Amino acid sequence: MRRGERFLAACRGEAVDRTPVWLMRQAGRYLPEYRAIRARHSLLDICGDPELATEVTLQPLRLFELDAAIVFADILLPLVPMGARLEFAAGEGPLIHNPVRSPADVPRLLEVDPRRDLAHVLRTVERVAARLEGLPLIGFAGAPFTLASYLVEGGPSRHHARTKTFLLRHPAAWHDLMARLAAVTGAYLRAQVEAGASAVQMFDSWVGALSPTDYERHVLPYSRLAIEEARASGAPVLHFGTNTAGFLELMHSAGADVLGIDWRVRLDDAWTRLGPDARLQGNLDPVALLGPVEEAEARAHAVLEQAGGRRGHVFNLGHGILPETPPENVRAVVDAVHAVGLPHADMARAR
Ligand code: CP3
Repeated sequence: MRRGERFLAACRGEAVDRTPVWLMRQAGRYLPEYRAIRARHSLLDICGDPELATEVTLQPLRLFELDAAIVFADILLPLVPMGARLEFAAGEGPLIHNPVRSPADVPRLLEVDPRRDLAHVLRTVERVAARLEGLPLIGFAGAPFTLASYLVEGGPSRHHARTKTFLLRHPAAWHDLMARLAAVTGAYLRAQVEAGASAVQMFDSWVGALSPTDYERHVLPYSRLAIEEARASGAPVLHFGTNTAGFLELMHSAGADVLGIDWRVRLDDAWTRLGPDARLQGNLDPVALLGPVEEAEARAHAVLEQAGGRRGHVFNLGHGILPETPPENVRAVVDAVHAVGLPHADMARAR
């Protein structure tokens, strides 16, 4: 099997010879090559410059035997054409200087046409896709809840209290906000596939802040809408969240091809809960990459053991690579995953 085939085959639940692996935030600050570019350009400058963004996207692929690339961008970029004054402040993370704080702020948000307003990212997707020689490229976007959280909080948040209060106090405005975000995310994911992405991932990083009931009523319908629109492109859709053990079944029912989970759930338990046909991505604790390299490899093996040779496993971390990660540990884990062969007969038995 060629390296370029494994990731998409696993997304479709087909047999593979090795478990495909890519890592969330595989491009970024843990790489000296990235830091060298970042020393001269802001994050928004890199994202806005298809040439720089292409270079940064390709950096980890030159170093490690990854099975997919992910376009270098940020989930918050579509908020800019919606009218958000976004800044990535050093040490503070993203800031939105004009957050959505009242129902009246929602209709002021602008409509986004990804081809016009996010053309820079789509040009990066085209450029990267042209250089990958058959390796799949993953496009991505934020899920409606996680985007709403940044818009309402105005930045990172521990409890997402403003967002959850908005949902309680202003249900109609919340639903208007979520409908707008679902439309942007769906159209943006679809546009990335049209530009050359072979799969797309929707990041709902902070959705685990919600109760299952609030998720089901106030978020799930909009995630489902965005996924439906993205799946109309024909490419597989991956759907990732953290702290989602309380409502994995609900999240699975949003309809993505592959569900991404973090390390707080065992992969085998997730499969028991979701059924043997579920396709799962994950779920090594990113902190494992900081430890002694033998420990990182052992934990990667434990993830594969829990996957048990089932079809439809994409190896990944349970959240993004931490900036302090030694690149040599990334190499060791990627190689350790590939070293475990998956003979087709064994896979058939595992099912
Ligand atoms: O995975 C990749 O290699 C592609 C690049 C990528 C970035 N952001 C670039 C980036 C991806 C997939 C994202 C997604 C993203 N952005 C998410 C979802 C994934 C997750 O980690 O939960 C979220 C929540 C964001 C929002 C965001 N962007 C935050 C909270 C921060 C600051 C915190 C931090 O890690 O520094 C960013 C900045 C950001 N986006 C960086 C990178 C490489 C680091 C900043 C820098 O280079 O100065």
